[in-house]
Amino acid sequence: MLTANSISKRYKNSRRVVLDSFDLTVEEGEFVAVMGESGSGKSTLLAVLSGILDPDEGQVLFDQKDLYSLSDEELSEIHRRKIGYVPQSNFFLKTNTILENIVEPFLLSYDEEEEELSERAKGHLEKLGIGDLADRFPHELSGGELKRAALARALLTEPKLLIADEPTTGLDSRTGEIILGYLSEYVKRGNAVVVATHDEHIREVATRIVTL
Ligand SMILES: Nc1ncnc2c1ncn2[C@@H]1O[C@H](COP(=O)(O)OP(=O)(O)OP(=O)(O)O)[C@@H](O)[C@H]1O
Ligand SMILES: [Mg+2]
Repeated sequence: MLTANSISKRYKNSRRVVLDSFDLTVEEGEFVAVMGESGSGKSTLLAVLSGILDPDEGQVLFDQKDLYSLSDEELSEIHRRKIGYVPQSNFFLKTNTILENIVEPFLLSYDEEEEELSERAKGHLEKLGIGDLADRFPHELSGGELKRAALARALLTEPKLLIADEPTTGLDSRTGEIILGYLSEYVKRGNAVVVATHDEHIREVATRIVTL
């Protein structure tokens, strides 16, 4: 599904090479955990794999297509339907409710009724334990609740690859386990998940652990 070939990345204002000829293949049914100390390059790797951070060298192939040689339109289409990405820090529009924040990004682009997307969003929120918060505004949620809402948003169009940066950070261990269990079920439905994490519970659900 996803193949990263010899990825190298160094940030412009820094001499340090963050990723050095890194290879990774992710197949359907895999739950890959990227671990490693703070600053080891996990978020950098996930952003490169998602198609949002151009590597200096190497390629990222998703279904045999090089993400970094696609047109903006083709890449947006992949981001809308096939690759869900949850960054380490969440982004929500302050003036919209949680449900609107989840559904609206897809309304113009996804050929489905608002009603159906809303129902699906509510289903994810429910299973993630925050079904009662759909109509609240982002500032009315805790950090961990927002994290779950961001996950619901990334899962809305059932992308076959979900890339989530620290999905359980800041959550109590029971809530963290609910999330990892939910992601594990998602993988078993024929998708793939890549997470960056410091959460040791990942060892119970990941099919592979990559250490940076
Ligand atoms: N935009 C940037 N410009 C310059 N350096 C950066 C930038 N983003 C990250 N870095 C540096 O690149 C290195 C890797 O950062 P990255 O965010 O990938 O680490 P991480 O493994 O995700 O860490 P954490 O566990 O703290 O989230 C760090 O040394 C960081 O300071
Ligand atoms: Mg990080």
